[in-house]
Amino acid sequence: MVAIHVDGLTKHYRVKVREPGLGGAVRALFRPRYRAVRAVEGVSFRVAAGEIVGFLGPNGAGKTTTIKMLTGLLYPTAGRAQVVGFDPWKGGASFKHRFTLVLGNKQQLIWDLPPEETWLLNRVIYGIGWPEYRRTIDELVALLGLEDVLGKPVRQLSQGERMKCELAASLLHRPELLFLDEPTLGLDLTAQETIRAFIREYSQRHGATVLLTSHYMADVTALAPRVLIINHGQLLYDGELRRLSEQLAPVKRLELVLGDGVAAHDLARFGQVREFSHPRAVLEVPRKQAARISARLLTSLAVLDVSIHDPPIEEVIRRAFAGASVESTPESTPEHAATPTHQAPVSITAEAERDWWASLAAAERAETVAGD
Ligand SMILES: Nc1ncnc2c1ncn2[C@@H]1O[C@H](COP(=O)(O)OP(=O)(O)OP(=O)(O)O)[C@@H](O)[C@H]1O
Ligand SMILES: [Mg+2]
Repeated sequence: MVAIHVDGLTKHYRVKVREPGLGGAVRALFRPRYRAVRAVEGVSFRVAAGEIVGFLGPNGAGKTTTIKMLTGLLYPTAGRAQVVGFDPWKGGASFKHRFTLVLGNKQQLIWDLPPEETWLLNRVIYGIGWPEYRRTIDELVALLGLEDVLGKPVRQLSQGERMKCELAASLLHRPELLFLDEPTLGLDLTAQETIRAFIREYSQRHGATVLLTSHYMADVTALAPRVLIINHGQLLYDGELRRLSEQLAPVKRLELVLGDGVAAHDLARFGQVREFSHPRAVLEVPRKQAARISARLLTSLAVLDVSIHDPPIEEVIRRAFAGASVESTPESTPEHAATPTHQAPVSITAEAERDWWASLAAAERAETVAGD
């Protein structure tokens, strides 16, 4: 069953251009100029019921805008979405009972009162009966370890305690779909881990679907087998997290332990030297030639040990994010048409691609030299 079906979803914000100075302010009053911010551009994907999907992208990539459209808070400029069988902009109360939205930087808890007051308010809003409320809240309090904070006003809670109480407030109506937009924002490592464990447990217990954005890769690697990567409003990657390196990084890293006398320039003949601190070094080589180059290294140089790894996931993602900004255009410029894609797109930006291929070319040359 499909929980989220998005087809060519697009959002262009219209923002007033403010010129500096008094003259600019007066001109803006009588002849305002606008520009379009292309926040989301023809994004298409599907999420199956019960899946946990990481939604990644740098600041301003369009993640929150997409989530706001999927929850019916924003109207799209173009495209369509079906969320748990509803059109998010027409679903009304029945739709709102099926999902929850947690924004790490916004709170719904009432500041001066204990968290339970907000929970009770949500009980009434969602029409939850007493026995069900007690059962759910007992389960959430136990899972999140909230026993000690129940009586305190929210303003006295730590950031981590507050986020746990926010989650409890958001899950009272047992939603089947969770939009979690940076739920671990600003939390220490222990609190991050508690929230992660909780999300996993909740999803497993209730078969809930989760779309999770986070700037902490640990959240994503711990929870989401599949990721969507968005940059400048466009989907760059939709696929398994473990295949990300394969798809976006055509290189492997050889971690070497060197014997005496091997210098960085000796290694540079075989690939790109990423780190060198004798006796340890890291060499980047074309993915397909990793085994062959490792064997050559062992026979040509005093190399004691070689292990082959994918580049760190953070780096693969950082490289995928690199590229010129296409964030906004003046309104006079023809706007990009939404281009719905039904296949999972896999691409990297031109700059990142150039970068990778330069290192590949170096290694190709080295391969020829080493093979001589
Ligand atoms: N209400 C708004 N009016 C005009 N532009 C907006 C508005 N909200 C967001 N934007 C712009 O749309 C783009 C996408 O913003 P969005 O908040 O969706 O990014 P994000 O991926 O959630 O980023 P972050 O990781 O910083 O939370 C940005 O360029 C942002 O400045
Ligand atoms: Mg955001």
